[in-house]
Amino acid sequence: VSLKNFNTFGIEAYARFFVEINHKEELTELFADAKWHHTNRLILGGGSNMLFTKNFDGLVIKVNIRGIEHRINHEEVIVESGAGEAWNGLVNYCVDWGFAGIENLSLIPGSVGASPVQNIGAYGVELKDVFDSCEAFEIKTGSFKVFLKKDCCFGYRESIFKQDLKGKYIITSVKFKLSIHAYLNVSYGAIEDELKKREIYQPNIKDVSRVVSAIRVSKLPDPSTIGNAGSFFKNPILKKDEFDLLHKKFPDVVHYITDSGIKLAAGWLIEQCGWKGKVIGNTGTWKNQALVLVNHGNATGGEVYDLSQSIINSVKAKFDVDLEREVNVI
Ligand code: EPU
Repeated sequence: VSLKNFNTFGIEAYARFFVEINHKEELTELFADAKWHHTNRLILGGGSNMLFTKNFDGLVIKVNIRGIEHRINHEEVIVESGAGEAWNGLVNYCVDWGFAGIENLSLIPGSVGASPVQNIGAYGVELKDVFDSCEAFEIKTGSFKVFLKKDCCFGYRESIFKQDLKGKYIITSVKFKLSIHAYLNVSYGAIEDELKKREIYQPNIKDVSRVVSAIRVSKLPDPSTIGNAGSFFKNPILKKDEFDLLHKKFPDVVHYITDSGIKLAAGWLIEQCGWKGKVIGNTGTWKNQALVLVNHGNATGGEVYDLSQSIINSVKAKFDVDLEREVNVI
C-alpha cells in the first residue's frame, strides 16, 4: 500500500501491510491474531509528524476512530473525541460551541490521537494545559487503559507515549477539560499584534481562533500544496551557563526563559546559517519559516533527511548547539 497520501510530507513509501481501525473493538480483533504481535508496527494518525526514508516492512495501523461528544458540568466542560478525528475539526467544534481552551491550537495538522503523544503546542498553549485523560489499547494484553494527565509525563513536545511506552499502546480517544468562560490567552506577541492590526480590543474565542489561523497561514506552508511536517526540529533548551556563553558571542540570539531552561528559536539559528528559503534539489526550507523543511515536488525521504543533517551540522559548527529532530524519522 502506498503511504503517499497518508503523510503530509507527501513522500512516496510503501507499507507491507495496512489496516484501518474505525472502532476500538477492531483492535481487539486484530491483535487476537498472534502474528501481529511479532510484526513491526507503525501507528498512523494524520501522518503530519513523520518522514518516511524507506518502505515500511511491517503493519501500518491507521486509526480512524471518529466521534466528538461533550458534557457540561457547571463552568467546566469535558469534550471527548475519537483518536481519528482531525485535530482542527475538534478545535472548530469547541470554538463553535464556545468552549475555551484550545483556540490557540487552531489549524495544527494531524489527528486528535496523536496530540498527546508529542504534547502539541502553539501560541502560548500546550495540549497538557487542556488534557484531562485518554484511553489507549495495550497491545500486549489486549486491554484498554485510562491515562490521567499525571500518568503522561508531558514535557515540551514530549510524553510517556514517545518514551517508555513507545509502540506499546494505541490511543483510541482523548478527553479535554475546557471552560465555558472565555479565559483567553492572547499574551503571545504575534497574537497581540494581529488583534491590534484588526482593531479587535475585546477578542472572543472565535477571534483568537481566526487570528491564530491567519498567523499560521502566513508563516507555514499548507501541506495540501507543499509537503511538510511543520517544525522539523525542536527549539533547543540550554542551561543557564551554556546560554550565557552563547549570548556573549551572539547577543541577538532569539530566546525565551522557560521553567526547564532557556529555549532558543531554532528557526533563527537556521536562518543565521543561511538556510532560510533555500531550495536544494526537491527539498529546502520554507521561505517564511526556516524551521520547516518542505518537499517541492518529488523529494525522497532520504533527500529531506540529508538536508536536515546538513542543517544540524552547520548549526553545530556556528553556534555549538545541537538541534534535535522533532519529526519521527521512519
Ligand atoms: N525565527 C527566525 N527565522 C525563522 C523563523 C523564526 O528568526 O525563519 C525567529 C523569530 O524571531 C520568531 C521566533 O524565531 O519570532 C519564533 O518563531 P515562531 O513564532 O514561528 O515559532 P517557532 O519557535 O519557530 C514554535 C513551534 C511551532 C508553533 C510556534 C508558535 C516548535 C518546534 N515549534 O515554532 O509548532 O506553531 O512556536 O507557537 O516548538 C510544530 O511543532 O510543528 C509547530 C509548527
